[in-house]
Amino acid sequence: MAKLDHKPLLDVLNGRIPKRRPIWFMRQAGRYLPEYRAVRERAGTFLDLCYRPELAAEVTLQPLRRFDIDAAIVFADILVVPHAMGLDVRFLEGEGPVVETVSGGKRVDRLKRIGGSEQVNRVSETLASVRAQIDSRVALIGFCGAPWTVASYMVGGGGPDGRDLARGVAHEFPLWFAKLVERLIDASVDYLVAQIDAGADVVQIFDSWAGDLPSYLQRKLVAMPIARIVQRLNELRAGIPVIVFARGVGINHEMVSSLTKSSCLGVETSLPLEWARDFLVPRCAVQGNLDPVALERGGVALRRGVEHIVRKLPFERHVFNLGHGMRPSTPVEHVSQAVELVRKFDQADRQ
Ligand code: CP3
Repeated sequence: MAKLDHKPLLDVLNGRIPKRRPIWFMRQAGRYLPEYRAVRERAGTFLDLCYRPELAAEVTLQPLRRFDIDAAIVFADILVVPHAMGLDVRFLEGEGPVVETVSGGKRVDRLKRIGGSEQVNRVSETLASVRAQIDSRVALIGFCGAPWTVASYMVGGGGPDGRDLARGVAHEFPLWFAKLVERLIDASVDYLVAQIDAGADVVQIFDSWAGDLPSYLQRKLVAMPIARIVQRLNELRAGIPVIVFARGVGINHEMVSSLTKSSCLGVETSLPLEWARDFLVPRCAVQGNLDPVALERGGVALRRGVEHIVRKLPFERHVFNLGHGMRPSTPVEHVSQAVELVRKFDQADRQ
């Protein structure tokens, strides 16, 4: 018999009627919060913060103290995986990540397995610490990057031209690129299983750069690898819902949904919600897709953005979120206002 719980996010992901529409925000922990910047300064580099469980747990919890939201997402990064595989990973202030690049099948063979690594153990410790501190109505989300997005950093190195470079390699050298994707499928499963065992109730797979690829490669490099991860998780840890965020694939979300059979799809801001309602909602829950710019602006822009979404998607099949991560210049009050607006529209609808 299904376990009854009172987490609105798990209710929606498991096809039950939630007490209220669940809300969380991608990148809800981060630089827009002054208390994050304070902890970040104490920690040193961004990666130091990811690998200090007591501080990483603290920044995971910060948004929950301010906002009436329904999930915590563990503070870590998708690039923990290449780091644990043995690559040098750095985050340069104001510039983003720089990753040691991989080129050719022989180099792929030398990548390490990540199970039991120091990096993965630290992220597990963060999850266990958060688990012990959150309210029973709040779901805990673990995550990883999808093979394509992580490979785009491992092949392109980050930087302004990295994504184009990685896409070029995917076109020109499909054989060793596929081998890298295979390794990332294994690493992602190991990483997510470790997070589930440490206390994650649900996991999200971020394919942030899925929309860079032509449609036929989205099938091969986005949907198929994610489908394999979801299938293995279902075998290894049955009952843990998976949210798939293949950002930017448009009508290919339907293909991603049927191949991965995930409980929920995260959708980008540009996806028409009438289409999401008609073609996705019969198959899975939908998460998204407020424009991060509308949240940053606030006022009438925010109100229009929220109203459009909550009117289009039924509360029992929708997870309110952004269409991409929170911008660092977002005013904190706009986030509380967004939460209040969702609750207000839903209450008015129920009366
Ligand atoms: O959502 C959360 O609050 C949890 C933490 C989280 C971070 N990164 C923390 C972070 C999550 C879920 C991620 C995912 C991630 N990381 C993605 C996929 C989602 C997306 O935004 O598309 C990607 C592509 C990365 C890789 C990455 N990490 C980039 C490109 C950057 C630099 C850009 C930036 O915003 O600075 C990071 C750094 C990063 N990851 C920060 C945070 C809070 C900023 C680091 C800082 O404090 O300086």
